[in-house]
Amino acid sequence: MKRGFGSLLILLLCIQPLWAEEVQPEALYTEKECVACHTERDPDLVEQWRITAHGEASIVGCSGCHGDRHQRPAQLMTIKAREDETCVGCHRGPAAHSYATSKHGVINTIEANRQEWSAPLLVGNYRAPGCSYCHFYGGDHRDTMTPERGPEVRQWVCVGCHSPRYIREQFANGKRQLEIADLKLAEGDALMATADTLTGDLCSSLKQRQTDHRKNVLYGVGHQSPDYQWWHGQPALDGDLIRIRDAMDEARRREQLGADIVQ
Ligand code: HEC
Ligand code: HEC
Ligand code: HEC
Ligand code: HEC
Ligand code: HEC
Repeated sequence: MKRGFGSLLILLLCIQPLWAEEVQPEALYTEKECVACHTERDPDLVEQWRITAHGEASIVGCSGCHGDRHQRPAQLMTIKAREDETCVGCHRGPAAHSYATSKHGVINTIEANRQEWSAPLLVGNYRAPGCSYCHFYGGDHRDTMTPERGPEVRQWVCVGCHSPRYIREQFANGKRQLEIADLKLAEGDALMATADTLTGDLCSSLKQRQTDHRKNVLYGVGHQSPDYQWWHGQPALDGDLIRIRDAMDEARRREQLGADIVQ
């Protein structure tokens, strides 16, 4: 009898943590409150977030993706953050468009009505990856696609659905494409360095176009969008070099014309 009571006590002690699981009441919180309370609960997660562009950008705190109202069940906030719509709300333009024109984006657009985002972002749960599947794989708040984390991290995400060799080839090809883009940028810089006839404003707008088109190549290879690798990427960079040469020729002609008129 006494022994039986002892076992019951041990059993109760074992399941006690389940009862102790706090349930957060539904309430609105400021960004500071989310970060403070979750730093205690999930220190690693908050640290991951802190060192990324999201942590550094003052407008994207926890509530930027999860909402500023704690919900019940709390999972609703996680589901909201997984949806493509949440990311696209802030990342309009080339980031969203390059994804929309990729095979992954097309599949997810076609299946949007059936997609409910309630499953964790892990292999087997999704047919094609959405924004958060690739960038927040397994709930990692430090971008799982950045090359800074080494090739293994992002390849791991893709290899759930594709063969390792195929994925290595995709990333090797992407790296080559970016190297070619960088050569074009260097050529543009070298040209402009010799162009003392171009105004500062014109130089910076030409440079900006190159930077934007280089980013298109990055989106093209990162999001596997042929349109961005090609039309909005490499040929656009070739066009920039032509524009730089044209602008230099025009400036030279104007200068010549001015000199002729003075004579
Ligand atoms: C850029 C969007 C974004 C931001 C900013 C963000 N999160 Fe998340 N968070 C996500 C996504 C996407 C998931 C879902 C991951 C998954 O399903 O594996 C998630 C999941 C979570 C989870 C559940 C983790 C798990 O493993 O179940 C918690 C807790 C969380 N986030 C807290 C935070 C806190 C706290 C902050 C601020 C310090 C924050 N998040 C900032 C996108 C974001
Ligand atoms: C006072 C503490 C506290 C504050 C403030 C707080 N949370 Fe939480 N949060 C919790 C607790 C406790 C849980 C665990 C689950 C629950 O409530 O059922 C949780 C769970 C979560 C989850 C995970 C849900 C899941 O899938 O398990 C997310 C995401 C989240 N909080 C985001 C936020 C955001 C965004 C804010 C600010 C708007 C915030 N929290 C503010 C304590 C807090
Ligand atoms: C509330 C607005 C907001 C939301 C929501 C948001 N982001 Fe961001 N994101 C930003 C800002 C601002 C930056 C930093 C500036 C920039 O690079 O555009 C950023 C940066 C990034 C970067 C790094 C870019 C770089 O230059 O290093 C990635 C990748 C990214 N976001 C992906 C996502 C994904 C995936 C989601 C959805 C899970 C998401 N973002 C949701 C605003 C947002
Ligand atoms: C198939 C996986 C995948 C999907 C799906 C995906 N991304 Fe990406 N994303 C990448 C990769 C890979 C890169 C390139 C990262 C690099 O090399 O710096 C990238 C780059 C980015 C960048 C630029 C980062 C930088 O360093 O400048 C942003 C912002 C971004 N993605 C946002 C999004 C958004 C928003 C969505 C959904 C509309 C999305 N991504 C969907 C894999 C993905
Ligand atoms: C959740 C599963 C899943 C993940 C994860 C995933 N993909 Fe895919 N991917 C698909 C599906 C499904 C298709 C469409 C296949 C088809 O053409 O029928 C596809 C298509 C592609 C294509 C286009 C092939 C073509 O014919 O145009 C490329 C390239 C690609 N994926 C690369 C990647 C890379 C790189 C990653 C990681 C950053 C990745 N995928 C992650 C499921 C996935």
